[in-house]
Amino acid sequence: GKLKIETLPDPFQLVEKELQPFSDSIKELVSTDQPILSMAAKHFFEKRHGKRFRPTIIQLMSKAVAACNPESMTKKDDGEEKSNIVMDDKWEYTGASKVDYMEGGVVTSKNHKGSEVWRKQAQLGQIVEMIHVASLIHDDVLDEADTRRGGEAVHKLYSNKVAVLAGDYLLARASVLLARLENTAVVQIMATALESLVAGEIMQLKASPEELLQMESYLRKSYYKTASLICYACRSTALLGGHAYGSTVATACEEFGFHMGLAFQIQDDILDFTAAADIMGKPTLADMNLGLSTAPILYAAQEFPHLQPLVKRRFKQKGDKQTALEALYKSKTAMDKARHLAQFHAQRAVDALLRLPQSEARDALLRLTYVVITRKK
Ligand code: FPP
Ligand code: MG
Ligand code: MG
Repeated sequence: GKLKIETLPDPFQLVEKELQPFSDSIKELVSTDQPILSMAAKHFFEKRHGKRFRPTIIQLMSKAVAACNPESMTKKDDGEEKSNIVMDDKWEYTGASKVDYMEGGVVTSKNHKGSEVWRKQAQLGQIVEMIHVASLIHDDVLDEADTRRGGEAVHKLYSNKVAVLAGDYLLARASVLLARLENTAVVQIMATALESLVAGEIMQLKASPEELLQMESYLRKSYYKTASLICYACRSTALLGGHAYGSTVATACEEFGFHMGLAFQIQDDILDFTAAADIMGKPTLADMNLGLSTAPILYAAQEFPHLQPLVKRRFKQKGDKQTALEALYKSKTAMDKARHLAQFHAQRAVDALLRLPQSEARDALLRLTYVVITRKK
């Protein structure tokens, strides 16, 4: 039967208490004897802490995997060390990675809370948020965006130089904490996630005119710059929980993160057109101003071919943005198609979750998936 969203546990409420110590310990984790760096870094973990989607997901995921039965923990004799997430041309997740590591045993719901495993998974949540914030600080320099989370961006508060160093510093701290997890597979996976973030930004920067028009390039870039972090973090959570690399549990987690991340980014791109800057806490219509076309415009350009040259030249000529916006708002289908695309990925994320056994945390993740595609900010 159909799930009623309101009957599922509230994801944020479920982990509220556990995320509470988060702000305190993260402040401590990012403090340095360089006041300017700690100020810039702390700034983003105190009043302006954002939605905390990622640590929430990781907390819930760690509970959800603790509810899974120990399973196929045999090692595969495969030397492949790179993740090989594969996408087919519909952008469906088609494969898991091949590396196989097992460190320790599976932790179950009974002994999860307060365990060493639980502590490490919570640490992973903090690491991921630090990486996320580092990437946002750098992103606002690259995008020349003056506001973030409803206030001034770090580079506006201080300077570009401080913003670059504050981002680097957070990243360095995150790496130290990552190493402290003492799990080489997780270090490897999360390092790959960092590589993906940068790759996504480069793809966006260097896209050829043809690529700018392709939905496939847009989705690939979105995977790298957004989905990869949560995707790899979800797999790492399962690994820290004692599940084997190639286990169905770890794969379901990764697949959930993959689609959740894409749904999140597509929704973010829709909001760039439909939401107000004051609600978003950051500039809107930013993508077009950066010369980027996201799902809504790409669908509009399919309907109105006269937009295609504008997309290819990154809206560089006078009047280009206006023309494209008018076409988008005139289109009866473009925005709906973009919403359907977000829904498609949300559904795949849900399908992946449903492969995990029922638990309160799993159900809260189902609800969170729904929140992501219906969010207004
Ligand atoms: C926000 O996208 C940006 C990202 C998701 C990734 C940014 C990554 C880098 C700058 C690479 C460097 C990485 C690290 C770890 C230092 P957006 O600009 O589309 O979203 P916005 O509307 O929130 O600005
Ligand atoms: Mg950007
Ligand atoms: Mg940006």
